[in-house]
Amino acid sequence: MHIVRTREELDEKLSALKKSGIVGFVPTMGALHEGHLSLVRQARRACDIVVVSIFVNPTQFNDPKDLERYPRNLEEDIRLLKTVSCELLFAPTVEEVYPEPDTRVFDFGQLDKVMEGQHRPGHFNGVAQVLSRFFDMIKPDKAFFGQKDFQQLVIVRHLVRQLKMDIEIVGCPIVREPDGLAMSSRNRLLTEKQRKSAPLIAKTLIESCNFAKNNTVEDTINFVSDTIKRNEDLKLEYFQIVNGNTLQPVDNWDESSYIVGCIAVFVGEIRLIDNVIYKDE
Ligand code: PAJ
Repeated sequence: MHIVRTREELDEKLSALKKSGIVGFVPTMGALHEGHLSLVRQARRACDIVVVSIFVNPTQFNDPKDLERYPRNLEEDIRLLKTVSCELLFAPTVEEVYPEPDTRVFDFGQLDKVMEGQHRPGHFNGVAQVLSRFFDMIKPDKAFFGQKDFQQLVIVRHLVRQLKMDIEIVGCPIVREPDGLAMSSRNRLLTEKQRKSAPLIAKTLIESCNFAKNNTVEDTINFVSDTIKRNEDLKLEYFQIVNGNTLQPVDNWDESSYIVGCIAVFVGEIRLIDNVIYKDE
């Protein structure tokens, strides 16, 4: 595995490697866990060359405290990446990615007016800023994203269409802890007590699939909201049941053939997200 920190080194290594086939790209912010590694494994199976980036992108953090405490551990990340095999790790500095401030404003229509977009102003604009730069630098054939960040995946698909980039966006399943909690770099910031409460998020989402079979969308929203609110460690930010393509809320189960429930919960000061698919296309 080559580790490169600058654009110049990236270009140099990439042009040598690219001669050998399909390039797969896995963008991350580091503090790697099995969720990230599953994307690298999927890329490994589908591509000849796998490029991983580790970059805590400041422009996508709407909360400065969240940026400050975001876990960073490059040494351990390198160790984990070596266990799954990738050709190239790109771990640039902020100055390398943004020699000048990025003032571009992206238009995602209604996709970023809901859920994460509504509660984290500017977040998806920052994600688009960094990904458009990385896509441009790496020019991958395929890029791999987790369904854990469901809205991000939908917006990234929109972004590559908008920028007319010829990159296949591959969505990968959510990897969970044995108790159901969706893996996240932020989980390691939870106290022991909070960590014990956090699996209720996934448990409730899974139970709500059964509940939804005999109940309305509104009742299902109430079921999830009420269950989360009963736990003193959890504070619900939103739970929405949406059309999986447009991300707009649905009022009944017949409205779409693709329906997803998306949740954001504060566990103390740590904000976690998760989702569940009620109807799949
Ligand atoms: P990060 O949160 O590090 O996530 C990197 C990738 O790993 C994303 O595609 C995310 O959906 C995926 N991922 C995280 N947890 C997962 C899990 N439990 N199961 C499956 N996949 C999981 O998302 C970002 O970074 C950034 O916004 C980024 C795209 C890198 C742009 O800065």
